[in-house]
Formats: sequence, C-alpha cells, structure tokens
Amino acid sequence: MLADLVNRFDPLPKNSKLLILGAGFSGQHVAALARQLGTNVVCSRRKIQSQDENCVFDSEKQKIPSQITLSKVTHLLSCIPPDSTGEDPVLKCLKSNLYKMDLRWIGYLSTTGVYGDCKGRWVSEADLPNPQLLRSQRRLTCEKKWQELDLPVQILRLPGIYGPGRSAIETLQTGKAKMIDKPGQVFSRIHIDDIAGAIFHLIKLSAKGQRPSIVNLADNHPSTNLEVLTYAASLMNCSLPEIEPFEKASQQMSPMALSFWQENRRVSNQMLCNKLGYKLIHQDYQSGLEDCFLQAN
Ligand SMILES: NC(=O)c1ccc[n+]([C@@H]2O[C@H](COP(=O)([O-])OP(=O)(O)OC[C@H]3O[C@@H](n4cnc5c(N)ncnc54)[C@H](OP(=O)(O)O)[C@@H]3O)[C@@H](O)[C@H]2O)c1
Repeated sequence: MLADLVNRFDPLPKNSKLLILGAGFSGQHVAALARQLGTNVVCSRRKIQSQDENCVFDSEKQKIPSQITLSKVTHLLSCIPPDSTGEDPVLKCLKSNLYKMDLRWIGYLSTTGVYGDCKGRWVSEADLPNPQLLRSQRRLTCEKKWQELDLPVQILRLPGIYGPGRSAIETLQTGKAKMIDKPGQVFSRIHIDDIAGAIFHLIKLSAKGQRPSIVNLADNHPSTNLEVLTYAASLMNCSLPEIEPFEKASQQMSPMALSFWQENRRVSNQMLCNKLGYKLIHQDYQSGLEDCFLQAN
C-alpha cells in the first residue's frame, strides 16, 4: 500500500524534478508516491486522461513535451516499451534533450524477458542475457542504447507486474481466469508498491555513489499460475475453473500468451534486497494479492 511507502522514504532533494515518460500502470504508481512525498513530478502519456498527466509524449505521432516541461528535470524514469519497429521511443525523439538536462538519475524499465528461457533456474544480473523472442531481443538492444549514453542510467529489469486493478483478483472477477497446469513452470512477479519503493531506494543510493547498471526488481517467490489463482480465489471466497493441462490449453492461446509460457525462469532479487538493502513490501504473491484484494473492496 502506498501509505507504507510514504512512511519509509524521504522526498527527492529540494529542487528536484522527476519526469516519468509513459506514466501507465507502473509510472502512475511511482508518480503517486513522489507526489505524496512532496516531490515535483511530471508525467507523460500518449493522451491526457486525467489531471495527473501533465504532458503528451507520443513518439509515433511526433508529439513531444514542451521545453518548459523538460527544463530543470533532475530525475527521469522511462516506462515506455520499444516501438513497433523495435526502437526506443525516448531515445528516438528526445536523446539530444537528455544531454541538456542536469540529470542525476535515469531509470529505464526493462523486462526479465531479456534472460530468455532458463529452464526454471535462477537468473541474476550476472547472467548473460539470452533473449530468444524478437520482442526481448529488441528490448535488449534498447537497454544497450540507454547504457551507451554518457549519463547516470540504471536498467531495471521487471518480471510480471501486478497490483491493485491488475491482478489475479480481476482475472477471476472478469471470468478470464484459466487454471493451466504445466508442471515445473513458474513465473516471477513484482507488485507495483515494490517498483515504486525500489525506485526511490535506488535513487537515494545513486546519490551516494552506489548505482549498479542493472538491477532486477522481483519478489522472493516465483510461483505457478495455479498457486496464484488458488490464493486469489480463497481471498474472494469464489470457485475456480477446472484445471486444464498446458498441452490442451496451448491450442487456444494467442501467440503472445504462448510465448510467455515458453519461457521458465526464477528471477533473483539478491542484488536489490541483499547487496543494495531494499526491504520488499510484498515478499510473495500472498502478501501482494492481499493488498490487491483489500483495495478492490
Ligand atoms: N506488464 C508487465 O507485466 C511487464 C513486465 C515486465 C516489463 N514490463 C515493461 O515495463 C514497463 C512498464 O510496464 P507497465 O505495465 O507499467 O506499462 P504500461 O502501463 O503499458 O505503460 C506504458 C506507457 O508507455 C506509453 N507509451 C507506449 N508507447 C509509446 C510511444 N510510442 N510513445 C510514447 N509513449 C508510449 C504508454 O502511453 P499511454 O498511457 O498513453 O498508453 C504508457 O503510458 C513497460 O516498458 C513494459 O513493457 C511490463
């Protein structure tokens, strides 16, 4: 819950300005924490949808934030995935602007998909990426382009993102839940509270000179789809659909869904939690789903 984070973090230093490009699900949550801490934050979306979005950025339509919006930015978070051609929207349209800002920290939200299929073993930042899917290969290219900048960039690799409004609770509520059984298959996850919390933690460490170039943001317990849905149903006191073997379910899956089930890895958070000392708000899906359930009711 955001209130837990507000108690744990200080605002960014005085005169800081945080620009969040692509303030969708994760970006909005980081922005909400920043606002509650009293930090000046500016958010972009492709279309303004509420008063919490302050500017339009759409690389495909060449809509760029104004110079006033971009001026005095000290911290930047990009939550925008590669575009339809695989290019990074921010670097494509705003690269030269980045050098004009007095940037103390840049975070780029990437995915743990860059590790590729690991046959269920643990992967850490020390493992060489081995993306097999085109979208993950493109993501790795974008990561490298961000790292090539002579700027204080930190790549944050994320597994499945969930939180209030986007979790197994809603999947069950909308009747879209599928109990797919693929023995040995797990997924790693991160709750948006911990995305926001880890970002504030990493910005603070960066200011003290500790800024590893790549950090995985994941909880402690990679788990199966069945475990997560079963726990969500127990919170909601509702029944579950019948279990289907993966072989059968996969015949009806979209290519995108199928690609997620083709890869199996356990994402290590040792760097974030042990080396960098971040304390997770939600150590596992049980804690995260309890929060989602509470906020939905
Ligand atoms: N969802 C997951 O489980 C997951 C897992 C691992 C990594 N990731 C990655 O982590 C990042 C954050 O995830 P999220 O779920 O918070 O993403 P999200 O809610 O989909 O937000 C993405 C944001 O990027 C903006 N955007 C997309 N294309 C753009 C373009 N061409 N020009 C300008 N803005 C553009 C979107 O604008 P609008 O708001 O106007 O649509 C949105 O604000 C993304 O890069 C995502 O791919 C996601």
